[in-house]
Amino acid sequence: MATVTTPADRSTDNTAPRSEPSGGGRDWWNNAVFYQIYPRSFADGGTDGVGDLPGIEDKLGYLELLGIDALWLSPVMRSPMADHGYDVSDPRDIDPLFGDLAAMDSLVAAAHARGIKVTMDLVPNHTSVEHEWFQAALEAAPGSPERARYIFRDGKGADGSQPPNNWPSIFGGPAWTRVTESDGKPGQWYLHIFAKEQPDLNWENPDVFADLEKTLRFWLERGIDGFRIDVAHGMAKPDDLPDHDWNTNELLRNSDDDPRFNNPAVHAIHRWIRTVMDEYPNAVTVGEIWVRDNVRFGEYIRPDELHLGFNFRLAEAEFSADAIRAAIENSIRAVKDVGGTPTWTLSNHDVEREVTRYGGGETGTSRARAMLLVELALPGTCFLYNGSELGLPNANLPDSVLQDPVWERSGHTERGRDGCRVPIPWEGSAPPFGFTTGTGTWLPIPADWASLTVESQLERIDSTLSLYRTALELRAQRPEFSGEEVDWYGSPTNCFAFRRTGGLVCVLNASTESIAMPPGEVLLSSTPLTAGKLPPNAAAWLI
Ligand code: NOJ
Repeated sequence: MATVTTPADRSTDNTAPRSEPSGGGRDWWNNAVFYQIYPRSFADGGTDGVGDLPGIEDKLGYLELLGIDALWLSPVMRSPMADHGYDVSDPRDIDPLFGDLAAMDSLVAAAHARGIKVTMDLVPNHTSVEHEWFQAALEAAPGSPERARYIFRDGKGADGSQPPNNWPSIFGGPAWTRVTESDGKPGQWYLHIFAKEQPDLNWENPDVFADLEKTLRFWLERGIDGFRIDVAHGMAKPDDLPDHDWNTNELLRNSDDDPRFNNPAVHAIHRWIRTVMDEYPNAVTVGEIWVRDNVRFGEYIRPDELHLGFNFRLAEAEFSADAIRAAIENSIRAVKDVGGTPTWTLSNHDVEREVTRYGGGETGTSRARAMLLVELALPGTCFLYNGSELGLPNANLPDSVLQDPVWERSGHTERGRDGCRVPIPWEGSAPPFGFTTGTGTWLPIPADWASLTVESQLERIDSTLSLYRTALELRAQRPEFSGEEVDWYGSPTNCFAFRRTGGLVCVLNASTESIAMPPGEVLLSSTPLTAGKLPPNAAAWLI
């Protein structure tokens, strides 16, 4: 019968690297569990059907009950919302859709009173076209200091009617848009790696540095506990903006040779950000880093750059023991040599929800529950995406309601990310499920989510929400979750087990047969054991 072997009879093919202690264990974020709030979709304190800051504050009791340590708020700064806040027109103000500065101060104070840290998204790669700098650049002439804050170039061809290079936008279509000059004639082109409403800043311009410093200090002085840095592997561009042989332009999953990202000059930018952050030693930076090569990934979290870097390997891995183990080993290896802390995430506002990714339905839910136990068993920092604690799947939305700029820019060939951004169902038996006191929600909530509401899951001991609560409580309280090392056991095909230094054992069964458990007391399992065995698509914790 398939069984997991204990350390004493561990198979000799145990080749897993052993990670060094990370970050000295002194910083609050090193073992923290962050909870990502997509503000439009978390809770509406009003009636417009769009989530907001008062809505979040109102739910802090729930978040405390859930047991998370810190919030990461996707952007709440002033924005025309072409990319739902990732197009910032004033980085030092709150968008009226979400509230105002007083609402933000109030949320931060209330969260702190409950022992919850608050971090914000920071978007330094680009601004909105409505940012005053970009408006000034449009008014100004080619070659002016106003244009020098962005990446304006003359077009190719005799009349300049061809874009300056062949780069595509991540969201589809070209990465360049041509402007009309003050004489009414077609003029220069500006670069936008994302939507045309998101012009890229020129990070060789000192104004850009000075303004980001103002923004960092503005929020840190207000008590913000840190930042998630959007497109942290972007910002620096190669001098000559070379053409590229494009094999792939997958949404937010660029390859390592993509000239739009990961240019060596980006590290000087991070080192500079760090000099500001070091004046606020209790605040953290976590960068969005889509870089595959482990050595190049690790460069971002050298001691004088970012504190943490998002590693997306777990979010990309299929549900197989080998793929998941490889993702874990890779993520640990990527930070080991620079003494950094590993980070773990299964989903966010850009990727398909894990229940759907793992096959949907009961199987998808079982696997997502299993993967939560795998994630929370690992040493390092965990990031949970709002709604994953309810086991929400991606919603199947009709074309008519899609809002992601990807849908338009791809000429309706890519549906985009709206399916993972549907508002949270809180209570009751029909939409809007207590999300708003109004009637509609900015994206429709599927009527069959009635059994997934917070209210209904809080009552059920076997719900995904109850599993999250129990798992988070055990992770926070049990000494077995200590230590930085992961030691792999020999395991049956398509299963694995690892042991943390502190003694926690995590077993994953991704196979189609039940497996015997190694000796030990079962702390928690994602699916009840049957006759002492761990069923398929399940994980368990033992001590
Ligand atoms: C990454 C963010 O996570 C994504 O949602 C956004 O569209 C792009 N950066 C552009 O800011």
